[in-house]
Parts: sequence; structure tokens; C-alpha cells
Amino acid sequence: MKISLKDEEKLIVRKIKDGTVIDHIPAGRALVVLKVLGITGQEGNIIALVMNVESKKLGKKDIIKIEGRELKSDEVNKIALIAPNATINIIKDYRVVKKMKVQIPDVIEGLISCVNPNCISNQPREPIKSRLKVISREPLILQCEYCGRYIKYSEVLEQLLGKRS
Ligand code: CTP
Ligand code: ZN
Repeated sequence: MKISLKDEEKLIVRKIKDGTVIDHIPAGRALVVLKVLGITGQEGNIIALVMNVESKKLGKKDIIKIEGRELKSDEVNKIALIAPNATINIIKDYRVVKKMKVQIPDVIEGLISCVNPNCISNQPREPIKSRLKVISREPLILQCEYCGRYIKYSEVLEQLLGKRS
């Protein structure tokens, strides 16, 4: 008998009682998603990562299950840069009580550096966080609010994933 995808997933990691499930992450990117969210594992709550499982929509996908923590949409939206089709499921008492698609925010703060080395946001003595405005979503184009430099998607991926694509 062929195991259905749902059952197969159940065998890998159980359902959670309360918390957040980030689903439909491109295969292999779960660790980068955690990094973008600033989740290190030192927080102490249970976190399950499922990587490279079969998905009807994506071929393969990653899933992150965070027990005991309800992530708010504004804290998860920045993962849209590397997981544009991710779904955020809020779980209460084993049931999905809220399902959201991630959306690229209007401004991205701190996460990505301006590509202009002379920009004030890149000066080591200046306590300034980068602030990049989203000029276009498709294709993704960001603009530094300090120096006006444009940053394209390949440069965003290079910073977050450490490679060009
Ligand atoms: N999930 C979980 N614990 C729960 C409920 C759901 O870990 N108590 C997980 C499921 O395993 C799934 C995700 O949360 O990975 C979304 O659950 P659900 O909406 O039931 O699944 P689908 O209908 O397949 O979701 P979608 O339509 O978003 O693909
Ligand atoms: Zn700049």
C-alpha cells in the first residue's frame, strides 16, 4: 500500500498542540528561514524542522513547526523574500485556527545591507540599521532609504543564501 503524503509527513513529525507551522518553504531553505526570523533554538521551546519532503504544489518542500509560540504576520513577512509561497498556520489545541500567506513588507529593516559600501548604513561607527524600501515586488527591487541605491533580487539572495541565482 502506498502511504499518502499526509501520513508520510505524520511519520516524520507529529502534529503540534499550540504554536505556529510554517509550511510550503522551498526545499532546503528551512535553516535560512529560521535565521531570518532570528530563531536560534536557544529559546527553549520545541522546534521541528522537516526538510525535503514531497509536496503536491512544490515538488519538495520544507516545514517548520514551532511549539508554544504564535508568530505575528509582521514578524514572519520578511521570510517572503526567500519563501514567497510560505503559509503561516496558527495552531490552537491541535487545530489550524488561522492560515496566512506571507507578503513582502513595504520596508525591510536590518535584514539586508545596502550594496553601496559608502552608504552611511554601512559605516561601522554609525549605529544605523539598513532601511530598504520595496520599490517593486515582481521582479523584486529594493531601494536604500539613505543613499538611494537600488538592490536587485539576485543581491538579496546572495546575502541571505550566500550564492547568486
Ligand atoms: N499541522 C500541525 N499540527 C496541527 C495542525 C496542523 O503540525 N495540530 C501542520 C500540518 O501538518 C500542515 C500544516 O500544519 O503541515 C497545515 O495544516 P492543514 O491546514 O491541516 O494542512 P493543509 O490543508 O495541507 O494545508 P495547505 O492547504 O496550506 O496546504
Ligand atoms: Zn544605502
